[in-house]
Amino acid sequence: MIGSYELIKFKIRGDERGSLIAIEGGYDIPFEIKRVYYIFDTKKGVERGFHAHIKLKQICIAVKGSCTFVLDDGKKREEIKLDRPDKGLFIEGLIWREMKDFSPDCVLVVLASEHYDESDYIRDYQKFLEEVKK
Ligand code: TYD
Repeated sequence: MIGSYELIKFKIRGDERGSLIAIEGGYDIPFEIKRVYYIFDTKKGVERGFHAHIKLKQICIAVKGSCTFVLDDGKKREEIKLDRPDKGLFIEGLIWREMKDFSPDCVLVVLASEHYDESDYIRDYQKFLEEVKK
């Protein structure tokens, strides 16, 4: 099994009053949204994530502030900084992810294709590498 990720640019509907971004499940992103969660007030130096998902598809957006994703497909690691509300990171399939360098004001919104399900998580890196090889 393999995973993939890509950056998605959302359209900013700006006018003299300011900016607005609308994200519609199935149109602006390639799945229907079943769950939304957000990470905020992250303490200095904290790193989170350290897991992969089997089935879940997600879009991550730093709607305020910034943070860095470390993405690992089992072969290579890449860092992607999320620092704009119009920049979405789409993650699908088996990708190990870690999040770090949260700015104090960071609000990281995650749109997810499934309800919360602990059985969809792989929290052991060696197990993740074994799953990627299957
Ligand atoms: P956790 O998985 O540790 O967050 P991360 O991997 O992003 O660092 O989640 C923190 C807590 O929140 C944990 O007790 C599980 C719970 N949780 C939910 O109840 N629903 C959710 O949708 C998510 C993502 C987490």
